[in-house]
Amino acid sequence: MSNVTIENVTDVVIASLGENGDISGRQREIMTALLRHLHGFCKDVNLQHSEFIDACMFLARAGAICDDKRQEFILLGDILGVEVLCDMLSNPVEGSESEGTVLGPFYRENPPVLPKGASTVQTHFDNEETVYFEGYVRDASGAPIEGVTLDVWEDAPNGLYENHDHNQADFNLRGRFVTDENGHYAFRAVRPVPYPIPDNETAGELLRYMGHHPMRPGHMHFIVSRDGFRTLVSQIYDSSSAYLDNDSVFAVKDSLVADFNKAGPDLDTDLHVKFDFVLKAESASKAVAAE
Ligand code: BEZ
Ligand code: FE
Repeated sequence: MSNVTIENVTDVVIASLGENGDISGRQREIMTALLRHLHGFCKDVNLQHSEFIDACMFLARAGAICDDKRQEFILLGDILGVEVLCDMLSNPVEGSESEGTVLGPFYRENPPVLPKGASTVQTHFDNEETVYFEGYVRDASGAPIEGVTLDVWEDAPNGLYENHDHNQADFNLRGRFVTDENGHYAFRAVRPVPYPIPDNETAGELLRYMGHHPMRPGHMHFIVSRDGFRTLVSQIYDSSSAYLDNDSVFAVKDSLVADFNKAGPDLDTDLHVKFDFVLKAESASKAVAAE
């Protein structure tokens, strides 16, 4: 019989791992570290039983509002900086490879497949500023990559993604483009504006508990993919946007900030953004992962 005390409870629980069934080395590694950190946290803050119950009720409320449109736990992970941390741990950037950042909850599969240069805008807003986005996708040696798929999506000038706004057309401001033989992509869209992440319910409770605001800087989302290369999930940020220095989900990287310049007379848009991507060959990323 073990007499559980504040001093030995962590070791007692860790010693029980795998007692009633095999667990893998990774499961043991994760659970051992989790228990050490979790118990350490409880001791650090002298967590009271009523606070433990409050936390359980909070998690129960978060679970109750999850559905196919809202994944509250990812949102909570974003607010805590955990999604961006796991993303960086999963996708270490090497050499000239482009940086990634969080996917976020607003991606929709199978966006409209559009020809190079086409516009993703279906629903217009009085205050919209149109943008011509273009650039090259290259490999680490600088060679252009043809046939790269770029899924792009953004919020509308009212700060809402189309799937959260009944007044926008289905798949408004979403599109799928492919690079040409020079590795060049181009599309027309609108300037993305800062918006609040969903901050009602438990995400809002957590933000208020932390004394944080819910705002994200204006950004265009990208998923850049092609067989043989590591898929890049990323965002391009407007260098003139508010909240670049205090993003509510900590996803801004210096290398992902681009200037939205006034467009020249050769373009029919208000603004012009140039942004190049460098993809890592899959064999190179697999070799690194195996090291
Ligand atoms: C987004 O960029 O769409 C996003 C990312 C994390 C949380 C909420 C929104
Ligand atoms: Fe977003």
